[in-house]
Amino acid sequence: MSVAVIEPPVPMAETGPAFWSGGGDALVCTGVAAEVPGVRTFTFRAASGALFDYRPGQYVTLGVPVAEGAILWRSFTIASAPVTGGAATLALTIKAQPGARATGWLHQSLRPGMSLAARGPFGDFHLDDAGAAAAARPLMLISAGSGATPMASMARWLAGQESRRPVHYFHLARTEGDLLFHAEMTAFAASRPHWQLSWVTSEREGRPDAARLAASLPGLGGAEVFCCGPAGFVGSVAAAFQAAGGDAALWREEGFGANPVGPVVPEAPVPAESAPAAGGLAVRIEPLGREITVSAGETLLEAALRQGVPIPSSCRKGQCSTCRVRKLSGEVDMQDDGGLFEDEIEAGDILACCSRPLTPLTIKIG
Ligand SMILES: Cc1cc2nc3c(=O)[nH]c(=O)nc-3n(C[C@H](O)[C@H](O)[C@H](O)COP(=O)(O)OP(=O)(O)OC[C@H]3O[C@@H](n4cnc5c(N)ncnc54)[C@H](O)[C@@H]3O)c2cc1C
Ligand code: FES
Repeated sequence: MSVAVIEPPVPMAETGPAFWSGGGDALVCTGVAAEVPGVRTFTFRAASGALFDYRPGQYVTLGVPVAEGAILWRSFTIASAPVTGGAATLALTIKAQPGARATGWLHQSLRPGMSLAARGPFGDFHLDDAGAAAAARPLMLISAGSGATPMASMARWLAGQESRRPVHYFHLARTEGDLLFHAEMTAFAASRPHWQLSWVTSEREGRPDAARLAASLPGLGGAEVFCCGPAGFVGSVAAAFQAAGGDAALWREEGFGANPVGPVVPEAPVPAESAPAAGGLAVRIEPLGREITVSAGETLLEAALRQGVPIPSSCRKGQCSTCRVRKLSGEVDMQDDGGLFEDEIEAGDILACCSRPLTPLTIKIG
């Protein structure tokens, strides 16, 4: 009879004042490496020399200077693994979206030695310090496209801990040449019999639906699942998980630009007071020249997305600054969590995710 050996997890580093926490402490690029076509890994150290303490799966937000005086705040998962006691560097693996501004600038212009303003680490999509029960439970790390980055951090961390936890690492890309971290994960699995790998390409096999995913992921219903990728992919995995009887408490998902898919937990009825009401306050959005209406109780971000205005967001709790917009006129009630610097506040910036208009507004996005 084989006996499962459950090792106590090595705790992640305690957060302390010596650790990097963004703000005035810029990130200095120390290296750029090509991964697959259109994807590069950028390595950074803290300008102050502080170490990085984060959890596998968390992200940082970079202030990307796309043009003179124009900074776009964009979020990127830390693909490298945390190190007990703090890591000297962190790595971000970034796909340049066709025509996209921040990722385009990072690929074209960011070179070793250059500094970027940054914030973080942020995010609830991460492995926890596992107790014995979680350490024995099978873990599925399921991703598509650049959604591989949090999975890489988790897999690297587990490998570094010599964890005995059963891991199924599943990744979908368009072609074989687009499979991120293929060689590294293959090497991890080769020396770890408790690891299983699935590499799938839509070019060869088409986009997997829930039924095919369920067949490729035996034991899905009994596993703890982390899933990251385009909304359609996450939705299919969620449907497979639900059909397999998965426990909602063991499902974690992240999207890189879309709203959570929310697979298992039954939809709670929308409370009457948060449902969009008739009337509301008018917000003019420049440079689009569009006007939207913000209903009672709605944030600017909720109203903008509801009416098809694409304001980027990540944390949605006033920390990461991704949803920063400039207020040109009017007043808001902003309940942020430290997501703006003093000079940004003085310049009129607000965070759309936690701002509710008190008067009609004009804002500028982009
Ligand atoms: C938590 C998190 C982690 C991420 N991790 C990674 C990563 O590890 N690697 C990686 O390559 N990418 C990652 N992304 C995605 C990355 O932030 C986007 O690729 C980037 O924001 C695109 O910005 P851009 O300026 O290049 O594109 P843009 O020029 O802004 O536009 C491209 C399109 O994407 C939309 N968009 C941009 N950002 C967002 C957003 N946050 N929410 C909704 N819509 C948005 C724009 O409105 C526009 O329609 C992550 C995103 C989030 C939220
Ligand atoms: S989305 Fe993070 S501050 Fe608004």
